[in-house]
Amino acid sequence: MLIAHISDFHVFAHAAETSVVRADAADAARKVVADIAAFTPKIEAIMFTGDLTDGGSSEDYALLADILAPIDVPIFVVPGNHDKRAGLRAMFDGKLPFEPGASLHYETSFKGIRILALDTLLDGRVHGALNQIQLSWLDGKLAAPSKDLTLILMHHPAFPSAIAPLDDMALQDGRDTFERLIVAHQGPLRILSGHIHRPFQTLWNGIFCAVSGGPAFQHALALDPAAPEPATVNEPYAYFIHRISDERNVSIHTRYVEL
Ligand SMILES: [Fe+2]
Repeated sequence: MLIAHISDFHVFAHAAETSVVRADAADAARKVVADIAAFTPKIEAIMFTGDLTDGGSSEDYALLADILAPIDVPIFVVPGNHDKRAGLRAMFDGKLPFEPGASLHYETSFKGIRILALDTLLDGRVHGALNQIQLSWLDGKLAAPSKDLTLILMHHPAFPSAIAPLDDMALQDGRDTFERLIVAHQGPLRILSGHIHRPFQTLWNGIFCAVSGGPAFQHALALDPAAPEPATVNEPYAYFIHRISDERNVSIHTRYVEL
């Protein structure tokens, strides 16, 4: 079974809110979608880790729906800091089992894989937060040992990229509690995130985590802790394809798309 992890399309119908977003962000997103739709063997599900749109207007989500139309498999999403809950909820209402209340978190499964989707959006802020409602909910979900592979989706990484200025904008509120819950859980777990706009993988507390690239722009690799916020670079776009075997072993491949 193949599952794709994509992120940060930042599509906009009228004008971009974010200065570094490429003017042709919608075209770039369409190229990624075309690549996924044409891939063989068939990619059976998509994990989309936030910043689907740049401004979160209803027109932005209508454009996004049009861009995603070639994909005929389930798409599991979480909001990013550039999304708006109302638009995202409207687009995926009836498709994703959002919990009651304001946050767009949910649990679901796909072919034996458990998906725990978290809402780290803090209105009006770049950094992310996990509220107490979600942390308690997650505690309940992770309390029992599980042999099933669990994928946690969350836009803001709780794990460091080591690009210091970007890590300062990642998950902040609730991060320590989240880390405790993750460390205590017994079972195979992988965390998928976005937000950093540069694809990377990391082992954090013994858990494999990844950030998928964002086609709307990509940050340069700046690992000097004293370096300022990295500029954007024109490098090949990359997302991840997980190949999950019947034994639940996972091979993760980087897939490049010429934009
Ligand atoms: Fe983003």
